[in-house]
Amino acid sequence: MQTIDTDFLVIGSGVAGLRAAIELARHGRVTVVTKDIPTESSTEYAQGGVAVVLSDEDEVGIHFEDTIKAGDGLCKEEAVRVLVEEGPARILELIEWGAEFDKEGTKLSFTMEAAHSRRRILHAHGDSTGRELERVLINKVRTFKNIQRLQFCTAIDLIVEDERCLGAYALKDGDIIAVHAKATLLATGGAGQVFSRTTNPAVATGDGMAIAFRARAILEDMEFVQFHPTVLFAPAAPQFLLSEAMRGEGAILRNIFKEPFMKNYHSDAELAPRDVVSRAIISEMVRTNSSHVYLDLTHKDAEFVKKRFPRIYSTCLQYDLNITKDLIPVSPAAHYMMGGVKTDLDGATNIAGLYAAGEVACTGVHGANRLASNSLLEGLVYGYRAGVAAAEFRVQSSELRVKKDLKVLNSKPMTLNSHGFDLEEVRTSLRRLMWEKVGIIRCGVSLNEAMERLSEWKHILEMDFNTRRRLELKNMLTVACMITEAALERKGSVGAHYRSDFKERGENWQRHIRVRKTEKGLKVS
Ligand code: FAD
Ligand code: SIN
Repeated sequence: MQTIDTDFLVIGSGVAGLRAAIELARHGRVTVVTKDIPTESSTEYAQGGVAVVLSDEDEVGIHFEDTIKAGDGLCKEEAVRVLVEEGPARILELIEWGAEFDKEGTKLSFTMEAAHSRRRILHAHGDSTGRELERVLINKVRTFKNIQRLQFCTAIDLIVEDERCLGAYALKDGDIIAVHAKATLLATGGAGQVFSRTTNPAVATGDGMAIAFRARAILEDMEFVQFHPTVLFAPAAPQFLLSEAMRGEGAILRNIFKEPFMKNYHSDAELAPRDVVSRAIISEMVRTNSSHVYLDLTHKDAEFVKKRFPRIYSTCLQYDLNITKDLIPVSPAAHYMMGGVKTDLDGATNIAGLYAAGEVACTGVHGANRLASNSLLEGLVYGYRAGVAAAEFRVQSSELRVKKDLKVLNSKPMTLNSHGFDLEEVRTSLRRLMWEKVGIIRCGVSLNEAMERLSEWKHILEMDFNTRRRLELKNMLTVACMITEAALERKGSVGAHYRSDFKERGENWQRHIRVRKTEKGLKVS
């Protein structure tokens, strides 16, 4: 097996991984592995923007309050405080490195999104904020000669000896390599692909969450999955996000009879929290027996719309929809994981030498429901902090001690029908199952049905695979089990977790549900 020796291993090249790598490069050799081309990530597709207090009309305390309110009682206050207080410095630094956020005259331009009580969302090129962040961070990473970047390199599992993480195994060009590192950072993003309807790119298969689980890390808040209300719903079109910023700029939701309906559900109407809007849309779809509702921006000036949302305008046009003239068919889709690998405020997990940052992590910053545009900021703030902490860990800890590469992974590729299952069919069924039974509205019956079906595929969890697609399936199955078990455990409705059989918050609702692997299998506590 080929071995790479490095000081720091970063898994993932979205906002969190790149920001951490920049910090780590000041302290040693860094290896960044990423399973596709470097830019392929949720970060690249982020549209609306990044929430930050930089306007004269805004205050850190108000951003704190808005985040806590959206989190519906489950945010960890200290984590939120760090986010809002350190956010401005991380953004100013990004501007110094060349980030071009949109301006009005010479001043930064801020937009509005749901549940924000101030205009505080910075955006770039209208609706391509994430792409701008990736561009700037990748350019910055390139300036460090001690950062090695390995693309199309898929992390498989962590190397853990004596309860200390010493790197990871990865798949590169069909071969397994061992990357030995003094500290390892998971920055693998979310798990939207676990659901058949999602805004997330193909790489978002929850790998980091599953990898951490297998290594016996603790995961928290896995039942909290955010569903974005407005995702394109047109026969031949992709599940393309229609940014919340469109509602921030005045877009109206209408049912198939073209009637506005959000005022019937919440006093903030279109700008109510995301979970409220998603459920209102589902409710309206059921009431009108339709597969979608409409997003309407036709009353706005056409030139303004084209300039403010150029990427959305041109993408929709490819599918015969002119957003300045046509109502846009939309319905909700899985968008963001509030839960993930439990970390402290420095990204440290319960395994020495293992750090996590960005969407794969659960710092507690988002509670039961993430405030729009807080995750790019989280990637920057907590990516930086995890970088600082991992560097410090390496200084304090003893020399690298990989005794031997214990794990011998199966070197034979599994065939499509190995063990009597068509694994591609399992993937499709799994995603549909999660959407139908563990989606926006759940109940004990649907969750138990899901668990029963998931256990029929459990033998897949014991298999070793050596293709990216098969590894992803195993990880998606692991994450699906964690989400479903946690959702069964929470007998109440809080934030994005809504159970039709327990509509109230229920007893002990402020507890955080944890998931971990034990000798006996998955344990929820
Ligand atoms: P990602 O950016 O997803 O990066 C994960 C990286 O890990 C990728 O490089 C991936 O290839 C790699 N990876 C995964 N598994 C492996 C593996 N096994 N081995 C090696 N590499 C691996 N948030 C906002 O704040 N504002 C927005 O406007 C916004 N808009 C969004 C729009 C869309 C369409 C989507 C999908 C999300 C949006 N979000 C937004 C959420 C936000 O983009 C993400 O939460 C954030 O970018 C996550 O960053 P990350 O670095 O944690 O992960
Ligand atoms: C959007 O632009 O609607 C996405 C913003 C986010 O997910 O934070």
